Amino acid sequence: MQTTISLVAASTYLLMLVGYFLPRLRWLHIPTMAAIIAFDVSVPFYLYTHRDWWHRLIEQEDIFSFLVWMHFGLFIAMYTLDVLQVLTAKKLLQGDPEARQEHRSQGKALLFVRGLVILTGATLANPE
Ligand code: HEM
Repeated sequence: MQTTISLVAASTYLLMLVGYFLPRLRWLHIPTMAAIIAFDVSVPFYLYTHRDWWHRLIEQEDIFSFLVWMHFGLFIAMYTLDVLQVLTAKKLLQGDPEARQEHRSQGKALLFVRGLVILTGATLANPE
């Protein structure tokens, strides 16, 4: 059960790859990417309400683990890139062609960072 969220996240990653390689299909690209961003924003709320954080981080002292902090840093970077993607997407939709290059490079960075967030999250998942 504990690893289910990692499996769901990995499937959303595959979906994100589809959205990434088909940007011209706006009807597919925009809702897919928006849904993935909404998913990423909801995951911390889900984990907070469904896991015993006090036990895991404090009693088991996982708060001192490098992997936990790496995961934390990565998902902060991911949210920052999500915000930047939405901002450049807004410019693209307003017809600003200069936003295209920025949106594309941020998209590559987001693919990389989100992949690492999912990997470090799966490594942290408690199989108990
Ligand atoms: C709510 C979020 C997003 C919106 C509204 C959005 C919107 C758009 C729009 C309007 C285009 C132009 C499509 C066209 O040429 O007709 C585009 C292109 C693109 N988007 Fe997004 N996007 C979003 C998120 C993302 C994310 C998260 C990624 C990557 C992980 C991404 C990667 C790309 C790429 C690679 C292109 C092609 C750029 C190019 O023409 O070289 N987008 N997006």
